[in-house]
Amino acid sequence: MLGRPSGAGKCARPRAESAQQELRSPESPTPRKTRRADADADAAPLRSPKISPMRILITAGPTREYLDDVRYLSNGSSGRMGYAIAQAALNQGWQVVLVSGPVELSAPPGCEFHQVITTAQMKEACERLFPTCDGVIATAAVCDYKPVVRVTGKLKKVGGPITMEMIETDDVLAGLGAIKEQRWVLGFALEAQNPRENALQKLRRKNCNWIVLNSPTAIGSEENSVELISASGETVANWSGPKSRIATSLITWLSEQPASGRA
Ligand code: CTP
Repeated sequence: MLGRPSGAGKCARPRAESAQQELRSPESPTPRKTRRADADADAAPLRSPKISPMRILITAGPTREYLDDVRYLSNGSSGRMGYAIAQAALNQGWQVVLVSGPVELSAPPGCEFHQVITTAQMKEACERLFPTCDGVIATAAVCDYKPVVRVTGKLKKVGGPITMEMIETDDVLAGLGAIKEQRWVLGFALEAQNPRENALQKLRRKNCNWIVLNSPTAIGSEENSVELISASGETVANWSGPKSRIATSLITWLSEQPASGRA
């Protein structure tokens, strides 16, 4: 049942740590901007003078939690939103670290790709990679529950109902929010009821800078309709349409935020 083997495929090299620290320094944003421009003077030209080169972490796709060696809990996430954001960020000249659960899509060429299956694997990969990035966009539809016991082999039918005890999996985004320091964190909230209120609660609980509110109709769909909400609860933008267009709008919007406003 496992889609692809677990592992990491690297197509891009991380930037020098010194350059990362320079970008992330919370002090004196203006000199930082100047230094960044200077540092990039010899590099390939950026597509727009507004765009700050960034290295970002993106989580995408579903995770799986196994009941036994062949059955698992998961969801119908296609990974399209996260992969579209990865592509849009690459188009802007950013470095992209993509941590993805099992999906049918190919990783956008040029990204640093890390395949994961379970929530624990996604958490481990993200916590290892986040310190090398300037921010994270968490689109993954993480499986929130796992069985207390994973059965070795295959559960046999018993001829009637069974009850299985579940516990919550770790919250990957909340873990990153807790260690973000000067980095920025953007979450996605999938809400069926009281959408705004629940999204804002999530934003605060997970220490996000922004949250993108969308509904369960987004799962597995080519299109989406989203509201981008800031930490103060303000609606920053509304976008609808193909996920690729929303992804471009989001990355363009992020690229236009002053470095001091991101963290
Ligand atoms: N998320 C995560 N790890 C989890 C659950 C969610 O990283 N275990 C991230 C998602 O990638 C998303 C955000 O947290 O960016 C919100 O996910 P969502 O599914 O909307 O909310 P949950 O925290 O799972 O809460 P609930 O299912 O109760 O709505």
